[in-house]
Amino acid sequence: MNLEYLSGFGNEFASEALPGALPVGQNSPQKAPYGLYTELFSGTAFTMVRSEARRTWLYRIQPSANHPAFSKLERQLAGGPLGAVTPNRLRWNPLDIPSEPTDFIDGLVGMVANSGSEKLSGISVYNYRANRSMERVFFNADGELLIVPEQGRLRIATELGVLDVEPLEIVVLPRALKFRVELLDAQARGYVAENHGAPLRLPDLGPIGSNGLANPRDFLTPVAHYEDLKQPTTLVQKFLGELWACELDHSPLNVVAWHGNNVPYKYDLRRFNTLGTVSFDHPDPSIFTVLTSPTSTHGLANLDFVIFPPRWMVAENTFRPPWFHRNLMNEYMGLIQGAYDAKAEGFLPGGASLHSCMSAHGPDGETCTKAINVDLAPHKIDNTMAFMFETSQVLRPTQFALDCPQLQPSYDACWASLPATFNPNRR
Ligand SMILES: [Fe+2]
Repeated sequence: MNLEYLSGFGNEFASEALPGALPVGQNSPQKAPYGLYTELFSGTAFTMVRSEARRTWLYRIQPSANHPAFSKLERQLAGGPLGAVTPNRLRWNPLDIPSEPTDFIDGLVGMVANSGSEKLSGISVYNYRANRSMERVFFNADGELLIVPEQGRLRIATELGVLDVEPLEIVVLPRALKFRVELLDAQARGYVAENHGAPLRLPDLGPIGSNGLANPRDFLTPVAHYEDLKQPTTLVQKFLGELWACELDHSPLNVVAWHGNNVPYKYDLRRFNTLGTVSFDHPDPSIFTVLTSPTSTHGLANLDFVIFPPRWMVAENTFRPPWFHRNLMNEYMGLIQGAYDAKAEGFLPGGASLHSCMSAHGPDGETCTKAINVDLAPHKIDNTMAFMFETSQVLRPTQFALDCPQLQPSYDACWASLPATFNPNRR
């Protein structure tokens, strides 16, 4: 198991598990070294502008084309179809981890989505729960996967190498990259954003300058690692939202060398260079953007992955929690550890909330009252990591998300305790 990493974001990486396995000076020689087959893995259209293009050349024991027909699986993804449209604010307690054997695929539960899998835009959001390693290999033809562990370490063996991730780290897997999720602890739980749109990239920094937020060198891509196994392996794919499988007589994680930029990567959220005000007022949460999937409208994200890390609060004469607001964007929030500074209770690690387009939200009554009356000394919000999948199209909950017992029946009540403080006779 080779757990080395290459550092950087969007680079043209190169890695070989055997010396000289990577052809030099050309991509597709008549005879690739070691009798390997050459395969191009394209994550964007061939004609995409160079700065956005993603592709990787693979040198593998068997080409991916060597597979029999796929058959639709009887057991499909949990979560079911999308449910009724609702403008209401929703919040869920953490989903239980099943007691029956459940691998990463069986443990995926659809929660919200704003796109059909046939579209090249939008996102689908899942929670995952697992208590055993995958014995099969999976790829998702419907989009890129952003995995946010909340409990349990994962070893993700991919075509391009092996990534170990733990809570407070994230991993991004390109559309259709084959992988197997192994559990390094007894159980695992977390969140997945499936990005049907443009691949995630670092946000532009504008006046912030050339440093800050997530720094490129902190993104880690695995080195080449291959399995030369002649054993039966089930290969599962998700295609237009449905699970299909075929039986291979070999491991499809058989890439010996590769070069390119359509690669999986991980990032430690603790390395995020958090910025904030040093004078007054609460800045827009866009200063916490780790990764973004842009749309063709400049500044309008298909998906922003935003985090709320530990940070000092020093703003003077300021209502310091997130302000009350109504937003064009749709916000699916989760919590990896600790507490979120806008909610006194009810938002738990592993839980989630949904605030859809123009639904009014903000700090709950208890947090608000405290923030108005507190003595404003410098204060550190510590032991916390909340995040947001923010997207420009309205997210609809699945039927499961609307029916499950984890849906809190009285989320609205957290704002009902806001005291009436208006007095026209006292400025
Ligand atoms: Fe919000």
